[in-house]
Amino acid sequence: MQRIFDYSARADPYPLYAELRRTPVARQEDGSYVISAYREITDILNDPHLSSDVRNLSRPMPSVEGGATSSFIHMDLPEHDRLRRMATRHFGPPHTPGLVTGLECFLTATVRSLIDDLAGKEQIDVVDDFAFPFPVTVICHLLGVPRENEPRFHLWVNDIMNSIDYDPKTDPKEKLDKGVQARKDLRQCLGELVEQRHGRPGDDLLSRLANDDGPDGQMADADIVATAKLLLIAGHETIVNLITNGMLTLLRHPQVLQRLRDEPDLVVPLVEELLRYEPPVQIIPWRAAYSDITVADTVIPKGSQIMLMLASGSRDPKRFHEPDRFDPDRRDNQHLGFGSGIHLCFGGPLARRETQIALTELVRRLDRPRLVADPPPYRPSPVLRGPIHLDIEQGDG
Ligand code: HEM
Repeated sequence: MQRIFDYSARADPYPLYAELRRTPVARQEDGSYVISAYREITDILNDPHLSSDVRNLSRPMPSVEGGATSSFIHMDLPEHDRLRRMATRHFGPPHTPGLVTGLECFLTATVRSLIDDLAGKEQIDVVDDFAFPFPVTVICHLLGVPRENEPRFHLWVNDIMNSIDYDPKTDPKEKLDKGVQARKDLRQCLGELVEQRHGRPGDDLLSRLANDDGPDGQMADADIVATAKLLLIAGHETIVNLITNGMLTLLRHPQVLQRLRDEPDLVVPLVEELLRYEPPVQIIPWRAAYSDITVADTVIPKGSQIMLMLASGSRDPKRFHEPDRFDPDRRDNQHLGFGSGIHLCFGGPLARRETQIALTELVRRLDRPRLVADPPPYRPSPVLRGPIHLDIEQGDG
């Protein structure tokens, strides 16, 4: 397992995944299990005996939340379903004529304005100049965060993301402390916003949740805050990485980039293929078994930590023809980019649309873009994997 965390595998972890798949269910020295093949991963994600609640691990993991209410990504049935349903009701089709369908113009205008600022620059960093500011602006808009608070949200999300990448061997502890403080400040600010929204129905997500009188009743304020924080975190670095991995992959496949310019509709299957070929969430770091379970003839004891190698499953040759080939024309592309089962990403429709618009506009507007370094430098995390910077030159450069 150490090799999964080893930074030297970050730029290209796929040969390592191919090795792991020779033992699809592998017990590690510390008693945890690494699952690396498509079928076994989907079986586990759809198994009702698996828990997403850290308290069901026999060796509980440290929490950075300081005792705050958990969000539903860390809950099991029935509470998970109730809270997820209450949030999803407002989130978008097929549940409501909701917030996501109404976002199309906002997404396009935000992307265009960010790209306007890049015009004429000979060198740009796709991460800092574009991919980072875009999704946090979108979630703030969706939640209804007042514009004057937005810069603080950008800073908090930045500090939280840096703390997720914290490496005790190389990083100053300050990086972790800043993340803990940012989570606290973010919770407090969201709490104040939720209080203000009570009795004031509006069209943003915080107002809708604070005034909901749907079939599941009213969400408690602490759950609204935890849900909003989950959306900010789950819906940010994932999209930053998908857009950045997308630009990198297109620049490595210039004929596909040219095709996307000529046939903008290609972007729909192209983003699906990116979610399979270079997914932002490479690993679900843990599930816990409620009871002993058997997977591929191996008994996994109750309470064991189970690590699911999503990105390895999506490159499994038993499931995908020529899995190491980037092929936007691929059919039957049931990748694991958004997970599977009851915790399947509910931000999928938004994530897809944001990335489709971003990549279409970037390839349309950038002038003969070229990579400055290949591979680019990567973030430390093997879980949420993506370049920390992606420098590209354009024009006559
Ligand atoms: C869950 C991936 C964007 C909200 C998940 C899971 C994955 C994932 C793999 C499953 C986690 C698990 O089973 O433990 C991604 C990727 C994204 C993305 C690759 C972008 C490319 C978003 C966005 C939002 C979002 C934009 C919201 C605005 C959530 C939530 C969950 C989740 C709330 C938890 C669902 C549950 O526990 O029922 N995501 N996500 N995600 N995602 Fe996403």
